[in-house]
Amino acid sequence: TSNQMWGGRFAAGPDAIMEAINASIGFDKRLAAQDIAGSRAHAAMLAATGIVEPSDAEAMREGLLTVLSEIEGGTFEFSTALEDIHMNVEARLKTLIGEPAGRLHTGRSRNDQVATDFKLWVRDQLDAAEAQLLALLRALLAQAEAGADWVMPGFTHLQTAQPVTWGHHMMAYVEMFGRDLSRVRDARVRMNESPLGAAALAGTGFPIDRHMTAAALGFDRPAANSLDAVSDRDFALEFLSVASISAVHLSRMAEELVIWSSAQFRFVTLSDRFSTGSSIMPQKKNPDAAELIRAKIGRIFGANVALTLVMKGLPLAYSKDMQEDKEQVFDAADNWLLALAAMEGMVRDMSANVPALEAAAASGFSTATDLADWLVRELNLPFREAHHVTGALVALAEKKGCDLPDLSLSDMTSVHDGITGAVFDVLGVHNSVASRTSYGGTAPDQVRTQIARWKEILG
Ligand code: ARG
Repeated sequence: TSNQMWGGRFAAGPDAIMEAINASIGFDKRLAAQDIAGSRAHAAMLAATGIVEPSDAEAMREGLLTVLSEIEGGTFEFSTALEDIHMNVEARLKTLIGEPAGRLHTGRSRNDQVATDFKLWVRDQLDAAEAQLLALLRALLAQAEAGADWVMPGFTHLQTAQPVTWGHHMMAYVEMFGRDLSRVRDARVRMNESPLGAAALAGTGFPIDRHMTAAALGFDRPAANSLDAVSDRDFALEFLSVASISAVHLSRMAEELVIWSSAQFRFVTLSDRFSTGSSIMPQKKNPDAAELIRAKIGRIFGANVALTLVMKGLPLAYSKDMQEDKEQVFDAADNWLLALAAMEGMVRDMSANVPALEAAAASGFSTATDLADWLVRELNLPFREAHHVTGALVALAEKKGCDLPDLSLSDMTSVHDGITGAVFDVLGVHNSVASRTSYGGTAPDQVRTQIARWKEILG
């Protein structure tokens, strides 16, 4: 049998393989609520503009609400033959209300519908991501506040570089996830234009009111070009880009948690709630959540690449290629939101091992830069010479198998005779971090200033 939507032109129905490659209902049923919201807005507008009778619009409204409750209640029967969510909803509406259902599609097309539904769905995900990022930022701030003056090693090349504070390290992630938050908000503003009423591609002669449907669906305005309205998937690409960058941040932090929770580091203890055990090794406590978060970038960035390649080279306006947009975005959104939630839980629950952090901060000649700075400040050495003198002292300490503060004053003066006992003051890690008072530096007071600023931003 030929298709009930376009059977007029067709003598035969599709081959089973055609149906299999063509149908999107298996995944776009996730757009049901958005699809019905779009149809309700369109129906109300058709009545307000006199394009359909108010009684017909009322029948559409009631029928659409019934369809929605059937879908939400799990009693709706989705049909692959009806291809996608738009036609499944409309066909059911026809069964429920008869003839007026056939008037709903006046002045719109499935191309408008899919772009509208998908935008509404992505917009919801941006809102969910905003809420989840805010929760993560609050968890990081709580950690930063608790440990604004705990010292730990700061690394470059994963080699001990200089002491920093735990609070400072946590606040570095606050900056990163804070930029993710701002990207989420920017993307939402840019995408919030309604495609509905593009009427496939060229607009329509019916006196539709696109401003009315845009407002009803919470869009800021209708999209200004009907060709662009139905072919734009920038909003999905931008969503995936924002998610990808955020997933990079999640992955970097997850990697640190994996390292920090190892027996060799012992910087943090992850909670039982966010760890797993081993089926064979009774002592094990594994950071699986962190590892999975670290991995999520693979599928999220994969989706970003996949949709970029789908869109590349598509002529205007709609092409069926664009049906390949949804599964990528669905999967990326699900996994990004889950990773954000898991990271929030891990950060909230984890406890820092303060003595281990401090011991690690004091090892590995971490205050060598403080020593060089002291030589510049107190002995007026050029920095390059101070660097050289300090390097010689590090080599001496290494030869003696000790750290810089363990050298004697005569060891020190054997390398440079101007050095006095006052130098030992700057070799302690607490003095070191306290001295880093430049804006954005690791000194506890600077960290507290940034914590206060962020608390104000987050309200
Ligand atoms: N299922 C389609 C999609 O996801 C809906 C739009 C179909 N439009 C069309 N002209 N065939 O993109």
